[in-house]
Amino acid sequence: MFDFDTPVDRHGYYSSKWDIKEGELPMWVADMDFRTSPDIIEAIIKRAQHGVFGYTDIPDEWYDAYISHWQKRHNVTLKKEGLVYSAGVVPTISSAVRKLTTAGENIVLMTPVYNIFFNSVKNNGRNVLEAPLVYEQGRYHIDFDDLERKLSDKQTSMLLLCNPQNPGGIIWNREELARIGELAYDNGVTVICDEVHCDLTYPEKEYVPFISVSEKCRQCSITCIAPTKAFNIAGIQTSAAYSENRRLRHKIWRALNTDEVGEPNVFAVNATIAAFEKGAPWLDELRDYIYQSALFAKKYIEENIPMLSLYPSEATYLLWIDCSKLDCESINIAKKIRSLTGLFLSDGNIYGGNGQSFVRMNIACPRSYVIDGLERLSKAVRLMAK
Ligand SMILES: Cc1ncc(COP(=O)(O)O)c(C=O)c1O
Repeated sequence: MFDFDTPVDRHGYYSSKWDIKEGELPMWVADMDFRTSPDIIEAIIKRAQHGVFGYTDIPDEWYDAYISHWQKRHNVTLKKEGLVYSAGVVPTISSAVRKLTTAGENIVLMTPVYNIFFNSVKNNGRNVLEAPLVYEQGRYHIDFDDLERKLSDKQTSMLLLCNPQNPGGIIWNREELARIGELAYDNGVTVICDEVHCDLTYPEKEYVPFISVSEKCRQCSITCIAPTKAFNIAGIQTSAAYSENRRLRHKIWRALNTDEVGEPNVFAVNATIAAFEKGAPWLDELRDYIYQSALFAKKYIEENIPMLSLYPSEATYLLWIDCSKLDCESINIAKKIRSLTGLFLSDGNIYGGNGQSFVRMNIACPRSYVIDGLERLSKAVRLMAK
């Protein structure tokens, strides 16, 4: 039994999320307010106690930890030679954009999607080509004709895919992923598949690893995986890039190394091994806790804030809240909610697509914060409706 209920005071630890005004409640950036698994804490303390903090190599145990975790939890066999160390998923994506595409080329984003994808593309002088998800009757689906048009554009060289998808918590199914892989492969487009949220599916739900789907998916892609989201160790800055395509793997390895993000800090290896080798009991309780919070939020919103509706997520600890019944065309809703109640959410428009009429709420925190957040949200909607 792990304790997810007792608040952990994060003041004084330079937390980005908690750099807020007094009385505010931060439910924006995607990190959790929980202590990580005790096994990870122990591994980090042990490493710190050694007291010598020189350069670190990647040992076999690091590869074994990824391989056995993906085998046990996701039923897919990773090849050791496919794994490349990286200091983070965003560093991998930005390196891939810089080193695998050319300035001015199109990079396709299936929007709404993780806002930093836009930064990785634009900051490197590439062109964002949105293939917006279609939102019908409260659900997203892919417009494959539109996606095909965008991927077959000769200026398109890359697709950034988020699987499961942030912000909606969508688990893409095998057929959808197979079609994406086929379109990308047939058009010579490289897929960077960000699977950082894959261990945070709701209980009984399982994501589909892109590389498990087809030979085309394997050959056109680089997958980004990490223990950081699931185990709340994002500040350790560690991940892996994985590709079964020999050339792509070589290119991403060169990209990461020439961008100087291919080497671990002293805690990265030990924390990763502890997470994947010993963290499963903690992770399963966490998933259940998050799921219960999501169910609580759904009921609360249905009963108390009927102007809003919750996207039916199946993964992540993020709620994607449809505010389209509010008059939100001309305002930044999250900013308004923050100024009225101190509740700090992410504004949907940063994710592109139809995100403008949504807010994203991070519920990876004690239930008491979730309740406080929902009460503030309810108050904000009442005040905005006046
Ligand atoms: C989809 C997605 N990818 C990547 C990241 C960040 O990964 P990293 O900290 O390894 O750069 C996040 C963080 O919220 C995310 O949601």
